[in-house]
Amino acid sequence: MRKFFNITFTLVFLLFFGFNSMAAEKTAKLLSPEWSFKGFFGKFDKASLQRGYQVYTEVCSACHSMKYLSYRNLYEPGGPEFSENQAKAIASNFEVIDGPNSEGEMFTRPAKLSDKFVMPYENVQAATAANGGAYPPDMSVLVKARKGGANYIYSLLLGYDDPPADMELDDGVYYNKYMYGNKIKMSSPLSDGLIEYIDGTESTTQQMAKDVTTFLAWSAEPHLETRHKTGFRVIIYLIILTILVYLSMKKIWSRVENKI
Ligand code: HEC
Repeated sequence: MRKFFNITFTLVFLLFFGFNSMAAEKTAKLLSPEWSFKGFFGKFDKASLQRGYQVYTEVCSACHSMKYLSYRNLYEPGGPEFSENQAKAIASNFEVIDGPNSEGEMFTRPAKLSDKFVMPYENVQAATAANGGAYPPDMSVLVKARKGGANYIYSLLLGYDDPPADMELDDGVYYNKYMYGNKIKMSSPLSDGLIEYIDGTESTTQQMAKDVTTFLAWSAEPHLETRHKTGFRVIIYLIILTILVYLSMKKIWSRVENKI
């Protein structure tokens, strides 16, 4: 019997570590910083969301669209919570095509709160052509679309490195520890001091990676805070209900129990 256990244990051990090292061969283990939005009471850090928006607009939006976001989302509760006037000012920096006017012509006007985020390219083909044959994916729900979610995006942004000696990279292809196959057609978008944060935070690569990832986590799940709040209320309600049901059950059965 003991022998049997020994063999089983060794097998489980080998399988577990065998699979683990097989997985590790393909990509490195993801970095996992402290996220304020993880866990049951998780909330988005507003200052980080505002900085993240700044990183997105000043850096990523040159190539990546966020087609599900509107400028009004920037001041709605649960998000970066810019003031309404700030959001209006942000929107008015962008131009959108509207129309046709009474002469039947299309015209450009400054964006309004109700407009969707302006896209860097007209369509997928134009985006792909401008980026050496690789499409910069829309980032609205990218955190949900990738295994590893926020940790993956954060790691990817910090995962650029020199390729191993035996790896050949074509022009426009870069080595990244966390990308599937370790090759990515996006050069490292971040570098220390790249932008000047409005709130004066030091813009290290790590700081920008964390802020922009927080922003992308929010855009993929804008109602997270409401969901957490509702969940919490439901649990309190269920606890109270359980206590009441228990007490009334005791009361109802007490007569029967007394008789026996
Ligand atoms: C110069 C254009 C450009 C800029 C600027 C840029 N990207 Fe990209 N990005 C790309 C392209 C092209 C791809 C597709 C790469 C591929 O499939 O190999 C990509 C892919 C990605 C991916 C997906 C990787 C995957 O798993 O498929 C993420 C995440 C990403 N970018 C994040 C960002 C963030 C965050 C920023 C801003 C800090 C940014 N990018 C700025 C061009 C850009």
